[in-house]
Amino acid sequence: MKILITGAGGSLGSGLAEALDVAHELVLSDYFDMKTDSEYRRADMRVLDEVLPLARGCDFIVHTPAWHGMHGGQKSEADFWQLNVDGTFNILQSALQHNVRRMVWISSVSIAHWEKDKYGFTKFIGEHLCGYYHRVHNFRICMLRPWDFTPYGSDFIRYGERLLGGGVDRRDVIAATVRAIEAVNEGTVQYDAFEIGKDHPFTPEELAAFKTDPKGVIENLWPGYGDIIDKYDIKFPERPLVCDLKRTKEVLGYSPRYNFGSFLAELQKRDAGGRPVR
Ligand SMILES: NC(=O)c1ccc[n+]([C@@H]2O[C@H](COP(=O)([O-])OP(=O)(O)OC[C@H]3O[C@@H](n4cnc5c(N)ncnc54)[C@H](O)[C@@H]3O)[C@@H](O)[C@H]2O)c1
Repeated sequence: MKILITGAGGSLGSGLAEALDVAHELVLSDYFDMKTDSEYRRADMRVLDEVLPLARGCDFIVHTPAWHGMHGGQKSEADFWQLNVDGTFNILQSALQHNVRRMVWISSVSIAHWEKDKYGFTKFIGEHLCGYYHRVHNFRICMLRPWDFTPYGSDFIRYGERLLGGGVDRRDVIAATVRAIEAVNEGTVQYDAFEIGKDHPFTPEELAAFKTDPKGVIENLWPGYGDIIDKYDIKFPERPLVCDLKRTKEVLGYSPRYNFGSFLAELQKRDAGGRPVR
């Protein structure tokens, strides 16, 4: 299958290109010149004339470019609108022109704050634009709403701490996107949105106990890591954020591999091997 990945130079786009490269023919796109062995089509998503040719000859599109959470302070409402909303409209027009009616569109869990947040609002509009193309032009579109998968650099402790907050491992988001492509192709998904986060097995009682005894709750779930938690002075939130993954697992077959438990196991390995964690 020939898959167009927009925002191919970004965090998700580049990881996805790696994941799909063996099984598919890829067309990569971004707005800077990029070195790649795949076919490359440069385009500024905000400019319709540049975007229209992108989907030519493709079977499937994964659309990723957006200003997101970390750009909130630097980018204006106009910036957010032009890339996130106009960019989405433009790629949908390109898809229509070239009869490419299967797509994965990357939304965000920030859509929950759509009423007052400029980022969440653009994701809300974007999902509705996708809905219009589904209803009027018969597109099949899977929309993913990931938690924060921003790369955590070399600070592995911060990565782990964020898994108890708003973080999700980028590798799980990439795997979910691959599953979403399959679900659209199989016809399991016609037009739907799915939360993508980490999976933590906390019971309501454990969540309630977290505020007063976080280490006790963690040690109960993942025994044997008490010393390493102390050694690296791991900070716990008052209450871990829990994702609602029921539908994502049932419909998409999403099975996340990384959570706070996998972080502790990896931390212990790194520590034993004398590898730096910060
Ligand atoms: N990063 C996160 O934690 C996170 C969380 C939830 C949702 N998302 C969503 O996931 C998607 C991908 O996020 P990411 O972290 O990979 O983003 P990123 O910032 O790493 O990459 C975005 C890519 O889009 C490209 N781009 C920017 N402006 C462009 C333009 N005018 N024309 C063409 N390309 C342009 C950039 O060059 C970059 O390669 C976004 O839609 C984002 O809203 C991200």
